[in-house]
Formats: sequence, structure tokens, C-alpha cells
Amino acid sequence: MSATAPATQAPASPFNRNHPFASRLRENAHLNKKGSAKDTRHIVIELGSAGPTYVCGDSLGVVPRNPDHLVDEFLQKLGLTGDTSLREILAATVILNRVGKKFVKAVADKAAGPARDKFQALCADEKRLEEYVLDRDVVDVINDAPGVKFDPAELPGLLNKIAPRLYSIASSPDHRPGEVHLTVAVVQYTTHGRPKQGLASGYLAGLTQAASVPVYVQPTRHFHLPAPDRDAIMVGPGTGIAPFRAFLQHRAKHGHTGRNWLFFGDQHAATDFLYGEEFGAAQKAGHLHKLSTAFSRDQAEKIYVQHRMEQEGAELWRWLDQGAYFYVCGDAKRMAKDVHQALLKIAALHGGKTPEQAEEYVSVTLAKTDKRYLKDVY
Ligand SMILES: Cc1cc2nc3c(=O)[nH]c(=O)nc-3n(C[C@H](O)[C@H](O)[C@H](O)COP(=O)(O)OP(=O)(O)OC[C@H]3O[C@@H](n4cnc5c(N)ncnc54)[C@H](O)[C@@H]3O)c2cc1C
Ligand SMILES: NC(=O)c1ccc[n+]([C@@H]2O[C@H](COP(=O)([O-])OP(=O)(O)OC[C@H]3O[C@@H](n4cnc5c(N)ncnc54)[C@H](OP(=O)(O)O)[C@@H]3O)[C@@H](O)[C@H]2O)c1
Repeated sequence: MSATAPATQAPASPFNRNHPFASRLRENAHLNKKGSAKDTRHIVIELGSAGPTYVCGDSLGVVPRNPDHLVDEFLQKLGLTGDTSLREILAATVILNRVGKKFVKAVADKAAGPARDKFQALCADEKRLEEYVLDRDVVDVINDAPGVKFDPAELPGLLNKIAPRLYSIASSPDHRPGEVHLTVAVVQYTTHGRPKQGLASGYLAGLTQAASVPVYVQPTRHFHLPAPDRDAIMVGPGTGIAPFRAFLQHRAKHGHTGRNWLFFGDQHAATDFLYGEEFGAAQKAGHLHKLSTAFSRDQAEKIYVQHRMEQEGAELWRWLDQGAYFYVCGDAKRMAKDVHQALLKIAALHGGKTPEQAEEYVSVTLAKTDKRYLKDVY
């Protein structure tokens, strides 16, 4: 690294999505307590001294593979035994937990009897085809066309290729050097009578101690820690908490003097307060100055992080006005938009701004000019 490179960037890494590092799984722990509707994992991965390095705010790319039982079930439904090489290709290179139109069209081509007519009609109707592929995996499709036969060599080419998934890093590199921590929500649902798991989150959830995990670091371009003396407001419901655990670890370790205010939300306080004990300890130690929680399902009406922001709007405005950084991480579709609206309301109500001035302040001054409204949303 050159002497002028900012301290917020790790050195260029030889590892990337095409050349991942073979890390080892050190820990795969449940973060939700018994009785929770969710399955969120604390994943600890060993990078050692040979693996990639990272800074707070970076994400870890994980190259997943399909579970063996799904490969077996698929081959068995197709009446194929599958040699080792076909099994490996199916497990490691193509998506099995969801299907693309190409595969359904190939089934329409190969099926016989009533299934053929059914699939041909389906493929002739683009809207129905789109709906059909939305919630089915490869086995669901074969169940709809029993007896359909494929040449094993052509199978992989009919399925979509696996792409790595990113996870916000939940640890400071200085907390336990050589390790990287993740906070992973396991995607699981049942459709067409069969339970399904997300490809990468299911892969991580299924890993056992010392398993090899192909990973690489995806450096963040903008989601960096604030200067040591600057205050940070961090909004991270659900798995959005991940980078803020890293920020808090780092700021405590290095004695940053800026204050930290964390907003966290999830379904129930008793079962879903991810890292709740750690944050309690950080508060006691004086590293976490304010903790505002929104447990959405502990009362009749929904309470979300943006409601807590608004309730504490006067103080939040004071922090912003004094130069605090504002970070948001987690769901992009709804949460981050609602948090943005809450910021606008706070700027109007407590900053005395017109709606237009509030928009200008949040979207231009904070976000673009000062670069202290930072998002890591997905
Ligand atoms: C920068 C970045 C950071 C991220 N950080 C984190 C993080 O810290 N923690 C984290 O957990 N995730 C994080 N993610 C999301 C993560 O990358 C994956 O997208 C997520 O884990 C799902 O991937 P998967 O392979 O498990 O699921 P996939 O196999 O991709 O399946 C997900 C898909 O399953 C389908 N599906 C889901 N539910 C249903 C249902 N009920 N019925 C029918 N179909 C359904 C949908 O098509 C959905 O898109 C991050 C993403 C980005 C881009
Ligand atoms: N748009 C989507 O389909 C969507 C959105 C979020 C997450 N997810 C997926 O769900 C899985 C679990 O995610 P997660 O553990 O990170 O938690 P999460 O589902 O984002 O939930 C965390 C908390 O945020 C609340 N929440 C829901 N809508 C919100 C909103 N508009 N504004 C603020 N808070 C809101 C949830 O409340 P309630 O659950 O009580 O409503 C819960 O208390 C992940 O796989 C994620 O990708 C999907």
C-alpha cells in the first residue's frame, strides 16, 4: 500500500469471485432464541494470515454450492445415477433451488404424454411461465413431468449458473485478527409441498466446523467508518446490524471519541435481539452511547426503527446538526425508504425546514456534499 493510501482501504487482494480463498468455518451459531420465527446465524470464518484482509464496511463474497441431498433428489427423479463429475458440476456450478425458463422449455421439449401438452401450453404463455418459475425448484418441475428424460451431458447447460452472494462483514479486523464474522438470515420457505432454502444462506447454515468455504472480500466504496471524533448514528434492523457490530468493535478497540447511537429492530425482544448481550455490555462500558430498539411484534401495532427515530427526532436532529454521520443497513425495498422519509420529517420538524429544504438537506447536503448519509442496503 502506498504511504498516501487512505487507512480505510485494505490492500488489493489476489482473491476475487473467480479465485476465492479457501477459508475454514470456525463457528456456525444460532442468534435467535428458541421460539423465534427466524433463523439468523452468526458465522465465523477463519482467514488466517494467508487469506484476504478487510476493513470495516466491506462485504464478504461467498461462493455457495447446492446441498448433496438436492443433487441426489434431482438425479433420482430423472432416473440418472450421475457419476462423480456430473454430481460435482450440479452441486458447484448451477442453481437448483430455483429454475429458469430455459429449463422449463427443455422439459416441454422432452416430456411425453399429457405432461408434454401441459408444458407446451405453459411455455406458449409468457405470463404463466413467469409465474411458474417464480417459486419452483428443479425437483418441483420434474414432479410435474414425471418420467422426463435428459442426456446428462446437456443438463448443466439448461440451468442458470451459480453466482456468489455478498454478506456485510460483522467484525472489525482488529477484534480477532484472522477471522471474519457474518450475520446471515437463512432464507427458508415451503412451496409446492417441499421445503426450500436460499442457495447461499442455506449453504452457510448447513456448514459444520472446519468446512472449507470459498470467499473473497468485496471492498466497500463508500460505507466507511467516520473520523474517530465524529458521532455515528447507525440504523440496522435485522441482519442490517452486521456492519454496525463491526463499527462498534472497531471504535471501542481504537478508543474513538465520537459517540455511537444504534437503532436496532426485529420481531421480538425475547428471541430476536441479535447480539443483544454484546450491545448491553458495550453500553455499560461506555462504547455505545444510545441504543434505541423497535421490536415490531411485541405489541398490537408495528413499531419499526423509523418510528423510534421520529420519537427521538429532536435529539437525532441535534446529533446531525453537530456533524454526526448517519448510516443505514439492511432491507432496501421498504426499510431504507421509510428511514429516508423519517429523516425528511425530522429535518422539517426539528430543523425548521420546508419540505423542499428538508429534501435538499438530506439528499444533497448530508448525502452528497458532506457524504455523511451512507447506505449499505440490499
Ligand atoms: C452488499 C450486500 C450485503 C448483504 N449483506 C447481508 C447480510 O449481512 N446478511 C444477510 O443475511 N444477507 C445479506 N445480503 C443478502 C445476501 O447476499 C443474499 O441475497 C441472501 O442471503 C439470499 O441469498 P440466498 O442465496 O440464500 O437465497 P436465493 O437462493 O438467492 O433465494 C432468494 C430468493 O428465494 C425466493 N424466495 C424467498 N422467499 C420465498 C418465498 N417465501 N416463496 C417463494 N420464493 C421465495 C425469492 O426469489 C428470493 O429472491 C446482502 C446483500 C448485498 C448485496
Ligand atoms: N422485501 C422483502 O421481501 C424483504 C424485506 C426484508 C427482508 N427480507 C428478507 O428477509 C430475510 C430476513 O431479513 P432480516 O433478518 O434482515 O430482517 P427483516 O425481515 O428486514 O426484519 C427486521 C425487522 O424490520 C422490520 N421491518 C419490516 N418492514 C420494515 C420497514 N418498512 N421499515 C422498518 N422495519 C421494517 C421487521 O418487522 P416485521 O417482520 O414484523 O414486519 C423486523 O422487525 C432476509 O432473507 C431478507 O433478505 C425480504
